[in-house]
Amino acid sequence: MERARIFIDSKAISVLKAKDAPIFYVHGSGCDASIWKNQLEDIGGFAVDLPNHGESDKAEINSVEDYAFFVAKVIERTAGKGVIVGHSLGGAVAQMVYLKYKEVVKALALIGTGARLRVLPQILEGLAKKSIETLRLVSEMAFHRKEFVEAFTEFFSKNSEILLKDLSLCDKFDLLEDFKSGKIKFDVPTIAIVGENDLLTPVKYSKFFANFGAELAVVENSGHMVMLENPKKLNETLKGFLKKVL
Ligand code: COA
Repeated sequence: MERARIFIDSKAISVLKAKDAPIFYVHGSGCDASIWKNQLEDIGGFAVDLPNHGESDKAEINSVEDYAFFVAKVIERTAGKGVIVGHSLGGAVAQMVYLKYKEVVKALALIGTGARLRVLPQILEGLAKKSIETLRLVSEMAFHRKEFVEAFTEFFSKNSEILLKDLSLCDKFDLLEDFKSGKIKFDVPTIAIVGENDLLTPVKYSKFFANFGAELAVVENSGHMVMLENPKKLNETLKGFLKKVL
């Protein structure tokens, strides 16, 4: 696995790169590209550190659409067109790339995400106060497999400002009515994948996508963090989807 830096508007965007494949993984709130290690090693592709995350430069980000610009440019500069695998906030970014930069999107894998991503007010308020109990609550809600909770409480405590910023952007992200009114539908192959025990983005959110042309896959023995909690099943599901679309 190697790292590459791609300059976009004079900002360095860092990507973790495995076996060449036009697959672009986008992490969720407060995370970074390394969360996709299990997928990169098994399937290949590029995992992007969003601006202000991991090893990417800082940039002014005020909306999910601002992140989408950087992801679209990374795809344009590397494979030209690809499959976007987006998790949670990353899934919102993937939807926005699809809406604004369709020319770079071959297919979408939307993992543990939704068309609207409202956040519990107690999470936003607690993170603003840097409360360790809130960081633990986020971690507990994120994982069904409790062995991950302590490590992620610690990880999120080092990234609490960007976690709050990302969750605030999620809270404002809302395409629900645009889907319902028929303004948006998936006209590229799309799969919605969700852990059966996801408390942050419940299965209902992925089922909603299935009304607009997405295939649905529910992953057992997993909460929100499917790529870590059940990588075997997620990778199998992704590989099956990629075989059809690449
Ligand atoms: N897809 C389909 N339906 C959705 C949806 C999505 N992405 N997001 C919301 N809805 C539905 C809800 O299920 C609800 O339907 P109902 O009226 O039939 O029950 C309706 O839209 C309104 O829900 P919501 O916008 O979430 O407002 P709310 O006031 O009911 O609840 C929260 C607000 C924060 C309590 C709730 O969104 C929640 O529990 N979120 C999950 C926890 C969290 O913080 N997740 C972080 C995500 S990054």
